[in-house]
Amino acid sequence: MTLTDSLIVVDEHIELQAIDERFVHDLHQLIIKNKEWLQHFLDWPQYVTSVEQSRQTAQSNMLLHQRGYAKMFVILKDNVLVGVLSFNSIEPTNKTGYIGYWLDQDCQGQGILSASLQAFIAFYAQRGDVRRFVIKCRAANIASNRVALRNGFILEGCLRQAEFLNGEYHDQNIYGRIVTPPSK
Ligand SMILES: CC(C)(COP(=O)(O)OP(=O)(O)OC[C@H]1O[C@@H](n2cnc3c(N)ncnc32)[C@H](O)[C@@H]1OP(=O)(O)O)[C@@H](O)C(=O)NCCC(=O)NCCS
Repeated sequence: MTLTDSLIVVDEHIELQAIDERFVHDLHQLIIKNKEWLQHFLDWPQYVTSVEQSRQTAQSNMLLHQRGYAKMFVILKDNVLVGVLSFNSIEPTNKTGYIGYWLDQDCQGQGILSASLQAFIAFYAQRGDVRRFVIKCRAANIASNRVALRNGFILEGCLRQAEFLNGEYHDQNIYGRIVTPPSK
């Protein structure tokens, strides 16, 4: 990893900023605001309680970001934190990145996540760090499946009962998109 990857400009309103101490307060507030809703889609929100705990999670993600094993960005729209877009993990040898995301419930339906995802993919493909981009989402998560399809991912299969959520094991769709860097 040569160039810094702390900022990805998406357009004149949206930017992705690598997770940093200065975002902890707003990120924690946004999780608490959306906790009940997010719990329908993700397992971890139920475990978020104190801001101190959010700070510790942010700090471990900062380390992983710097080392290239994961990448966590907050999504800012007109300088307001509205969501998160990440590589939950990166396999450096395979140049494969597993993507995760969520938005403030009030900011859905505007294309914010899709625009962010396109810029994120272009950025890491251009650097040559990642060429296989993967989204794994519950088969029943309609909005997330639509994100994958809207952004050029191909459904590669269904992983049976691969995701534990709210007391049950759910089928998970796996989507892939291959992007090779432009030849120099
Ligand atoms: C998954 C999630 C991020 C999708 O959010 P989203 O706003 O639907 O995603 P997009 O940015 O792709 O926006 C697409 C929507 O905006 C609309 N839109 C408006 N302007 C748009 C534009 N300029 N470009 C693209 N879409 C636009 C689209 O029509 C679409 O709405 P529709 O699905 O009702 O047709 C959100 O539902 C979420 O946070 N869910 C909970 C967490 C979660 O499930 N995470 C994924 C776990 S695998």
